[in-house]
Amino acid sequence: MIILGVNETTHDASVSLIKDGEILFAGHAERYSKQKNDWYTNRDLIKNALSYGYPDQIAYYEKPLLKKIRIKSKGGLGGGNPWFESTELGDLPRKNFGHHYSHASAGYYTSAFNDACIVVLDAIGEFNTSSIWVGEEESIRLKYKQNYPVSFGLFYSAFTQLIGLMPNQEEYIMMGMAAYGDWTKYYKKVDEYFPSYDKQKYNFHKGIIDWGWVSEQDKFDIAAAVQVVYEQRLNQFMRMAKSITGKNNLVFMGGCALNSSANTLLWNIFDMIWIMPNPGDAGSSLGAAAALYGKHLNWKTPYLGYDLAGEYPVQQIVDGILKDGIVAVATGRAEYGPRALGNRSILADPRDSLIKDKVNLIKQRELFRPFAPVVLEECASKWFDMDFASPYMQYTVKCLQPDKVPSVVHADGTSRVQTVNRNQHRGLYRVINKFYLETGVPVLLNTSLNIKGQPLLNDETDIIKWEKEYNFTICR
Ligand SMILES: [Fe+2]
Repeated sequence: MIILGVNETTHDASVSLIKDGEILFAGHAERYSKQKNDWYTNRDLIKNALSYGYPDQIAYYEKPLLKKIRIKSKGGLGGGNPWFESTELGDLPRKNFGHHYSHASAGYYTSAFNDACIVVLDAIGEFNTSSIWVGEEESIRLKYKQNYPVSFGLFYSAFTQLIGLMPNQEEYIMMGMAAYGDWTKYYKKVDEYFPSYDKQKYNFHKGIIDWGWVSEQDKFDIAAAVQVVYEQRLNQFMRMAKSITGKNNLVFMGGCALNSSANTLLWNIFDMIWIMPNPGDAGSSLGAAAALYGKHLNWKTPYLGYDLAGEYPVQQIVDGILKDGIVAVATGRAEYGPRALGNRSILADPRDSLIKDKVNLIKQRELFRPFAPVVLEECASKWFDMDFASPYMQYTVKCLQPDKVPSVVHADGTSRVQTVNRNQHRGLYRVINKFYLETGVPVLLNTSLNIKGQPLLNDETDIIKWEKEYNFTICR
């Protein structure tokens, strides 16, 4: 049976296509419509998905009626009709799954675990904001849930908005700002606004709008305090989840699982961790499809989107980096998830401290924004303080040789590391290996191939447009 999973009417619409446990396609609406965080699917995305097979059934990532009731009674955004319903796909049999169940399914059924504690933390689904599940063999059972307004995600988003950023989109910028702030200044005030899981005291969005105007440095200090409070509460919550489920494997899903700085502390609690590379709502089209399939999927790779075809241009990339310091690359299938993992990336020489500013200028981003390293997996523990693999850039750790790779080290001495081995991405592995042989450094800077506020480049049209507009050749 072929299943088309769909998520839309929320930030980051996407579709996924699976057949008997194989993932045939998974892609984001924004990469086709060119509208960042697009809420709705579109014809080009669905056409691309259907080129891999025609579905027998639709799996939808939420219970729309429940969500409409919540929006009417409690507020919030969304709740419109999904665009796919207006196409012939609207006539297919369809099953709707709960928002948090879709997150849990996306995580557990793509994991290699046969038993796990599954934690979902986001802003809000229909009503749920936090949930803990047990995965055993092919079953997923709910053990704990918390409803609006108590929410890790809303806590983080509310402060994102307070400091002038876009909630539900720019939380990662606030996370990056935390390294430049004094967390002690606002700690008490921020901590008081975190909800107690025993007493539902606060509605954040109402609470913090009274804080009024803040100075530029205050924004960084608030970001630092928010990150510290978030990590402390996450630590408590995850220890509770472990004790409720009695499991040593963790599957972590929901938009909060994108907080790479906080994710690292989870290794102190669990033996093994799986965060699907697209843990936010955009990953829930795959989650809904997996929920309908009801069994583990054969997870092989996050490169599941639009196919530019072609061999990975290894030598062209290496030559470009050694000559110019920076190259852009677009080849093969697009990444499913927010991180560019080598197929729609800008790669650069991490040894040059000026490269960071140059890449930020190309991408038109704020100059304080950090960049991530991609490192050969076998060398990772020599360069970064880590004893685990991080193939999807999900953990932030201390850099052990910051003087040698200054452009991929954040203000607090940490890096959000991507590790790569031969099986995971042979082309990217060979690129770094060749760079290593030339320079003695098994690390490159890796960032997404896009301009700030725009989606990652997806197809041939995007490449031609980029090359013309920015006079920058893309390796392909
Ligand atoms: Fe969610």
